[in-house]
Amino acid sequence: MKSSVSAAPLSTNKHLLRWVEKMADLTKPAAIHWVNGSQAENDALCAQMVSAGTLIKLNEQRWPGCYYARSDASDVARLESRTFICSLSKDSAGPTNNWVNPFEMRRKLKGLFTGCMRGRTMYVLPFSMGPIDSPMSQIGVELTDSPYVVVNMRIMARIGLPVFQLIDKDVKRVVPCMHSVGAPLAPGKTDVPWPCNNEKYIVHFPETREIWSYGSGYGGNALLGKKCFALRIASNIARDEGWMAEHMLIVGVENPEGEKTYVAAAFPSACGKTNFAMMIPPNGFEGWKVWTVGDDIAWVKPDKKGELRAINPESGFFGVAPGTSAKTNPNAIATLSKNTIFTNVALTPGGGVWWEGMTEEPPTECLDWQGNRWTPEIGRQTGRKAAHPNARFTAAASQCPSIDPNWEDPDGVPISAFIFGGRRAATIPLVYQAFNWSAGVYMGATMGSETTAAAAGAIGKVRRDPMAMLPFCGYHMGDYFRHWLTMQRSLTVTPRIFHVNWFRKDADGEFIWPGYSQNMRVLKWIVERAHSRAAAKETPIGWMPRYEDIEWRGLDFPREKFDELQNFDAGAWRSEVIGHEELFIDLHDRLPPEMVYERELLICRI
Ligand code: OXD
Ligand code: MN
Repeated sequence: MKSSVSAAPLSTNKHLLRWVEKMADLTKPAAIHWVNGSQAENDALCAQMVSAGTLIKLNEQRWPGCYYARSDASDVARLESRTFICSLSKDSAGPTNNWVNPFEMRRKLKGLFTGCMRGRTMYVLPFSMGPIDSPMSQIGVELTDSPYVVVNMRIMARIGLPVFQLIDKDVKRVVPCMHSVGAPLAPGKTDVPWPCNNEKYIVHFPETREIWSYGSGYGGNALLGKKCFALRIASNIARDEGWMAEHMLIVGVENPEGEKTYVAAAFPSACGKTNFAMMIPPNGFEGWKVWTVGDDIAWVKPDKKGELRAINPESGFFGVAPGTSAKTNPNAIATLSKNTIFTNVALTPGGGVWWEGMTEEPPTECLDWQGNRWTPEIGRQTGRKAAHPNARFTAAASQCPSIDPNWEDPDGVPISAFIFGGRRAATIPLVYQAFNWSAGVYMGATMGSETTAAAAGAIGKVRRDPMAMLPFCGYHMGDYFRHWLTMQRSLTVTPRIFHVNWFRKDADGEFIWPGYSQNMRVLKWIVERAHSRAAAKETPIGWMPRYEDIEWRGLDFPREKFDELQNFDAGAWRSEVIGHEELFIDLHDRLPPEMVYERELLICRI
């Protein structure tokens, strides 16, 4: 049986039309909706989801244009254990990815997707990752049965008619992205607010550049332009084409003389990337400004002159809400004050939202992320949080007060430095600089971090997360390190590479560094080093600032505390290097020799 088409196709591209028809034959939706991306369409979809109970419209006075969603309690985070890289050979996916034979996986997916959209509308959602007019952009089409995905993707990517027009020109390859919540609706049955399936699959076919996602409607599992395309598939494209798809924020640091320096920084999920990307310089930094280009993903490419330029392929922020406040990130609070979709935060009686850390005083009463009554007393007695720790806001980048005037420059912004950072209570200093590119690649490759709530699983365990790409590198991690090393050959100017750790603790378990806007002091040193203007001392692990190399105006931070933060402990570093080995053993057959030499050099120095 052919599915009915509710609206005329908005594209004339034969490949696209044929694919949509084929997928409709497979999934059997009740209707097909070609997404034009307009405000009117968005409003209609939101109204429809309000009637279905998926969205709640927030108080228009306080939260104009904002909506609230509660996910199913089982569908709250990315699921790394259900994420697959189905390359033709297992070896191409490498030991850090789940692999299933692609033929077997296709059979499985065919079974799962057969009739999976019955009773639902299939949305044909074209999207561009990166500005429509950028030569660095890539395009995809997501077929999804989730209107929640459509309205979120409208914030996170450029979608709709201009993308169909690009597809009709047939000048760029289109990445096909299939998505279903896996919950067909029987005739006459009422829908649940958050349909999903207990069986979940987030599947990537790197050779054919395809994505298939089943069973989840949440974040990175369902907004396929983000982690699936812009990192896992794009990392494959980037390796083949000589550029880099990285889990990095991008900021421009402007000094009082008006000189702007762009840096890109990789931190694992929920380690403060959004805060860092929107930093407001603290007291003592009058005349300095930090401009936001992106908070999560950077596509970085050498230009004709051999200098690296980067775009943010996204157009919105899918930020972690808990901990975000007017104190910790005023720019984020301004960004999310209108036209935002909140998911799994708490709902206040006045039709507003709240999450832990948003205000010092919690509301006297609210509904928690599962819709149960929550009071501070209930929270104290049961330990239950009002918002899920991975609750999110989806907000447009254009609403961010610190958005860089060049953030949509089709040619990207020039990158002068890379920063790697993890969440580490011990051993790793506040900041140090790699001796050179290959030592910097080693530094990124051996990054470790304590796990957070952004992915399902244990929290607080140190895991090796190379370049913050462990869950996102779509091919063999050893080849990825090699790609990083070989990138240098196409560069005439090599960005400097740094490592930071805002999370070092003292003997009482207290954070030593105040973090947040005070990170500007570290950022300033990094920028000055990138321009060869700041001093540093040589240590066994790299170049470190001395106390006097950091700008301390506006902060009373004693020298002894700084020394504690920067302390290099040879014994602890010996264990650290053994930790590096854990990952390297797994990668041994594809580990570039440079990584082994860098490790040996490090051992000799410590
Ligand atoms: C994210 C993540 O959502 O890294 O950005 O998990
Ligand atoms: Mn991320």
